[in-house]
Amino acid sequence: MDFKKIIADSLKCDFISADEAYSLLGLPANPQMGDYCLPCFKFAKVLKTSPQAIAEQVAKSVQSENFTVQVVGGYVNFRLDRTFLAKSVLSDKSYDGETFPEAKPNGKTVCIDYSSVNIAKPFHIGHLLTTAIGGSLYRIYKRLGYNVVGINHLGDWGTQFGKMIVAFKKWGDKADVEKRGVNALVELYVRFHKEAEADPALDGEARAWFKKIEDGDVEATRLFSYFKNVTLEEVKRVYKRLGIEFDSYNGESFYNDKLSDVVKLLEQKKLLTESDGAKVVDLSDFDMPPCLILKSDGASLYATRDLAAAIYRKNTYGFDKNLYVVAYQQNLHFKQVFKVLELMGCDFAKDCVHVPFGMVSLEGGGSLSTRSGNVVYLSDVLDTAVKKARAVIEEKNPKLADKEKTAEQVGVGAVLFMALSTSRIKDLVFSYDKALSFDGETAPYLQYTHARCRSVLEKCGAADLKDIDYSLLTGDAEAAVITLLNRYGAVINDAAQKYEPSILSKYLIDLAQSYNAFYVSNRIAGEDAALMKARLKLSEAVRKTLKDGLNLLLISAPAKM
Ligand code: ARG
Repeated sequence: MDFKKIIADSLKCDFISADEAYSLLGLPANPQMGDYCLPCFKFAKVLKTSPQAIAEQVAKSVQSENFTVQVVGGYVNFRLDRTFLAKSVLSDKSYDGETFPEAKPNGKTVCIDYSSVNIAKPFHIGHLLTTAIGGSLYRIYKRLGYNVVGINHLGDWGTQFGKMIVAFKKWGDKADVEKRGVNALVELYVRFHKEAEADPALDGEARAWFKKIEDGDVEATRLFSYFKNVTLEEVKRVYKRLGIEFDSYNGESFYNDKLSDVVKLLEQKKLLTESDGAKVVDLSDFDMPPCLILKSDGASLYATRDLAAAIYRKNTYGFDKNLYVVAYQQNLHFKQVFKVLELMGCDFAKDCVHVPFGMVSLEGGGSLSTRSGNVVYLSDVLDTAVKKARAVIEEKNPKLADKEKTAEQVGVGAVLFMALSTSRIKDLVFSYDKALSFDGETAPYLQYTHARCRSVLEKCGAADLKDIDYSLLTGDAEAAVITLLNRYGAVINDAAQKYEPSILSKYLIDLAQSYNAFYVSNRIAGEDAALMKARLKLSEAVRKTLKDGLNLLLISAPAKM
C-alpha cells in the first residue's frame, strides 16, 4: 500500500503538484511526530512567506479521515489513522495463500555469474560470499519478475590441466580419486610441482598434454572431463545443501572456439597493439594497465574468455543486465573487460556490472576444522555449523521430532545468514558462535520467530482469519509491525537495485524484533475471539513475510525448532 501516494493525492494546494508532494514526502526524524512529513522550505522564496505559514496553508487544504495533520515549524506531519493502516496493509490478498503469489514476468532478463568455481581446486570458504550473494540475488530477481540466468563460469582452462594429466598418469589412483575426490586431485597437483623441481622434463610433458587437450585428443579430453566431473560432483553436493541451482555451467573452456572472433573484431577495430610479442588493448587513456588478449605464444587469457563470454551472453540471453558476483580483488579485471567491450562498440557494456564483495576469514584463524593444509572447505564449515546446531537443539528442545533435518536447516541457514547480513563490500570474520546464537541478529533468531508465529497460529486455530476487526490492532507495537510489513516490497526492490541482500537481512531482523516486542506484551491465546483473531492475522502476515524473506536468502524456515 503506497500511503505516500494517498497523502500526496489528497493535497489541494495550487503551488504543489501531487508528483512533487510525492517526491518531497519523507519519514519524520522522530516517529513520534507522525508517519510521514512534508518539508515546505523550498516554497518560501517563491511564495515570499515563511515555511511555517506555507505548512499551515498545506495542512488546511487537506481533509481526510485516513490521517491527521499537524504543523511543526516548516513541516506538515501526517499521522495515519491506525485502523486504516492495519486494514490497508493486512487485508492485502497476498497474505491469504500459503505462499506469496509469484511475480508477473516483467519481460527483463538478468544474467548472474556467481560461484564460478575452479576445476580440480577445493571449494573453500573463500567461495562462500559469491555463492551466497549470487544465489540470493538469483531468487530476489526472480521474485521481482525477471527472467534470471544463473551462470557458473567454471575455471576449467589453463596449462594446469596438462600438469594434472601428467600427475594422474604417473602417480594417480582412480580408486583414491573416486573416494577422496578433489582432495586427491589437489594432492597430485602439489606433487607435480615438487617433482618438477627435481625433474624439469615434467613441465615439457605437461605442456605436451595441454596441447593435446587443445587439439581434442581423445585420451586428453577424456581425462580432462573426468577431473571436471569429479569436481562438479563434489561442488554440486554443496549447492544442493545451499539450495542453489545454475542454468548454465559454461566455463572458460566453453569459449575456446569463440575466441578467434573476438580477436578478429579487436583487430578490425584497430584496438590490438603488440607488447613484447603479446597482443594487448592499450588502456592508458583510461588510466588502466593494458588488457592482455593473447600471450606471445598465441595462448588466450582470462580476459579474452570474459570478452567472449559477455558477447555470448548478450547474443544468447539478450540480457538487460549482466552481473558478475566476484571478489573485489578482480575490480581492475572487470573495469578493463567492460572498457574493452565499450571500445569494441558493444553498447551493452553499460549493462555489465561487477558486484564485488569482501574477504572471509574464520574467527581464530586456521585452527578450525580443515581436511588438508590451511584450506577451509565450505562443506566442513557447513558440517561444523550443523553439528553445533544439533547440540543446541538437543539442549533446548530434546523432544523435537525431526532433529536431524532441523539441525541441517538451522546450521546451514546460520552460515548463509552470516554471509548475507554483512554489507557486501566489508570483510567478514566468520564466527560459529555468533552465527548460531538464538538471540543475536542471526538466522536461528529469524527461524525461531517464524516457528513461534506458526505455533501460536496452530495452537489457536488459524483456519478462519476473515472478517477481522482492524480497530483492534491500533497499539504502538502493532503499528510498528504493520508499518514494517508494508515496507517489504520496497525492501526487496532496494536489495535488487543495490545488489545487496544484506538490506533484506537487516529488514527481517527489524521485523522479527518488532513482532517479538508485540508478542511479549500482548496475549493471543485465551483472548476474546475477535481480539485473538486480529492478533492471529498479524502473526500470520509476519510468519509469511519471514518465511518468504528467508527463502530469498536461501534459508529454510522449519515449522518447529
Ligand atoms: N573462477 C574465477 C575465480 O575463482 C572466478 C570467475 C568469475 N567469473 C568471471 N566471468 N570471470 O577467481
